[in-house]
Amino acid sequence: MSDSREQAGNSTAVDGRKVNKRLDAAAYQKLYKASVSDNEGFWGEQADRIDWIKPFTTVKDVSFARKDLHIRWYEDGELNVCVNCVDRHLKTRSGQAAIIWEGDNPDQQRTISYSELYEEVCRLANAMEARGITKGDRVILYMPMVPQAAFAMLACARIGAVHSVVFGGFSANALADRIVDCQARMVITADGSHRGGKTIPLKPNVDEALKIAEQQPEGHQVRTVLVSKVSGDSVDWLDHDLWYDEFVPTHEAVHEAVPVNAEDPLFILYTSGSTGKPKGLQHSSGGYLVYTATTFSYTFNYQPGEVFWCAADVGWVTGHSYIVYGPLANGATTLMYEGVPTYPNLGRCGEVIDKHKVNIFYIAPTAIRTLMTDQKRAIGSSQRDSLRILGSVGEPINPGVWQWFHDEFGKGQCQVVDTWWQTETGGIMMTPLPYVVEPKPGAAMTPFFGIQPQLVDKRSDILEGKADGHLVILDSWPGQARTIWNNHERFIDTYFSTHDGMYFTGDGAKRDEDGHFWITGRVDDVLNVSGHRLGTAEVESAVVSHPKVAEAAVVGFPHELKGEAIYVYVIPNDGVVPDEQLTKELRDWVRKGLGPVASPDMIQWTHGLPKTRSGKIMRRILRKIAANEHETLGDTSTLADPQVVDELIDNRLNR
Ligand code: PRX
Repeated sequence: MSDSREQAGNSTAVDGRKVNKRLDAAAYQKLYKASVSDNEGFWGEQADRIDWIKPFTTVKDVSFARKDLHIRWYEDGELNVCVNCVDRHLKTRSGQAAIIWEGDNPDQQRTISYSELYEEVCRLANAMEARGITKGDRVILYMPMVPQAAFAMLACARIGAVHSVVFGGFSANALADRIVDCQARMVITADGSHRGGKTIPLKPNVDEALKIAEQQPEGHQVRTVLVSKVSGDSVDWLDHDLWYDEFVPTHEAVHEAVPVNAEDPLFILYTSGSTGKPKGLQHSSGGYLVYTATTFSYTFNYQPGEVFWCAADVGWVTGHSYIVYGPLANGATTLMYEGVPTYPNLGRCGEVIDKHKVNIFYIAPTAIRTLMTDQKRAIGSSQRDSLRILGSVGEPINPGVWQWFHDEFGKGQCQVVDTWWQTETGGIMMTPLPYVVEPKPGAAMTPFFGIQPQLVDKRSDILEGKADGHLVILDSWPGQARTIWNNHERFIDTYFSTHDGMYFTGDGAKRDEDGHFWITGRVDDVLNVSGHRLGTAEVESAVVSHPKVAEAAVVGFPHELKGEAIYVYVIPNDGVVPDEQLTKELRDWVRKGLGPVASPDMIQWTHGLPKTRSGKIMRRILRKIAANEHETLGDTSTLADPQVVDELIDNRLNR
């Protein structure tokens, strides 16, 4: 199969500059078709992008059948992910910047070459082993956006330990749940983090999380908490605590990497679903690395020497795949930014782009919408002429926002890639490839090589041509999550039971007359608030755990900046008279329980919720009222008590 990696050289003039397109539309079509018809051939060839310690003999062994669900790629191969991201670049680019770190404070920066990265990671790997961490052990990372977060991910990969990064914006409770669920043996954290000029405590949350975990029936297994000095805040010190900055440098800067099997887990990442607690998606070593390396190279048309900036947090899958693994597997220079895009002012992104000559910039629509609130300031005095490709991820991008990003932020000189994918998919699944597929603002357009998206109706019948339905994927790809940690049944139930024999994404999508895909958003009870994924069930259980609350229902409603915001309907306990004070208390309660990302935007107290006669809450009605669209409520005749709806409409908050 003819792969574009060998077709270097052909430079053409596009967007006012010379670029190496690598593929044209006809070549894309041809390669896409071949990648589907000879899927194993395609992925067998892409696997050459990485070094294998022991070559694999089978590419793929997959069944999406509910009774025999298994997903295996390159299953008898052995490799080390860290060696692929670090060591193998030392021969050719040891002095090249691997990571450019830009502080929250614009005066702080650090450049880490590939050889420095090697030393940092080896020291940490030795330090972790000295604390008894070995292959297969789980390590929780609860870190700010500092280089140590990347060192820690890579050091885990080097010794075969399984990392689970917990977003620094999550609360002690959320952290405790994850520590217990994956039975972590070590936590790597910092005293606190800098974001938007403020310091946010992290170590105190770890202390509290471990206390909470101790009280749970399973208890916890954490023996070491390694604390990096970042904020300089004083922290309580416990027996199991060690300062990263004192302990790690005492270890040697060389380390022999541990070979792992392609199917051994590289990481667990928790994400929200429509029911229950967050689930730990388990990703593989070999398939995941091949997939992130391949998608990074094609989607961003990465050229050697370019600077790539993904403005996500390493706590999310985007940070895993496109700050750390995808770029480093390609020997790229990845920029890691500590702060928020709007600090100290709206012009910060442009300043960082100019300062570090960023060529490729990858960000979420919610951040672009914030920049658009004051377009003049967002542009500021920056030139942004180094930019070649702009990427969008995490939620649907409104066509007007796409246009501004392209015309104004990118000065009409950049290709825009709207990339659709999920924590579960490990890497980008749909995107218009730059210079190849002519994008339509707001559309994820075309599948990546080897990916077979399809639309189905509620009966799982495949919809042909122009259509609107549930988005499913018909066959596996190497980056697919293999299971839910410790809960394979839940993995099968969640993703393979709605539509038999297919992976169900939880998203709805449309296909237009040209065969291009437009993602319309979640069709399940998952919210997407500022690009952060939250389950309504999680927020509901945090609300009802308040002693003055009897019952609650949570829905999302459209929000100009956040994309979606959180609307909570609450029934107080008998005798409780809700007032502003209680509303504030409840909001703080949820923030403390889940983290600031889950803070409810609107809290409406009510005497009842719209339920069917069998007691099921009709969320469709609640969504309409929250969106101020009660005029189009539809049929309410099946409700047990239709009057409840009148009360809800009369007292609605979003007008
Ligand atoms: O609804 C889709 C939306 O984000 C969900 C996945 O969220 P998460 O697992 O947190 O991963 C986010 C980063 C990959 C999807 O089910 N989503 C993601 N990208 C897009 C999107 N919706 C529309 N367009 C996108 N480009």
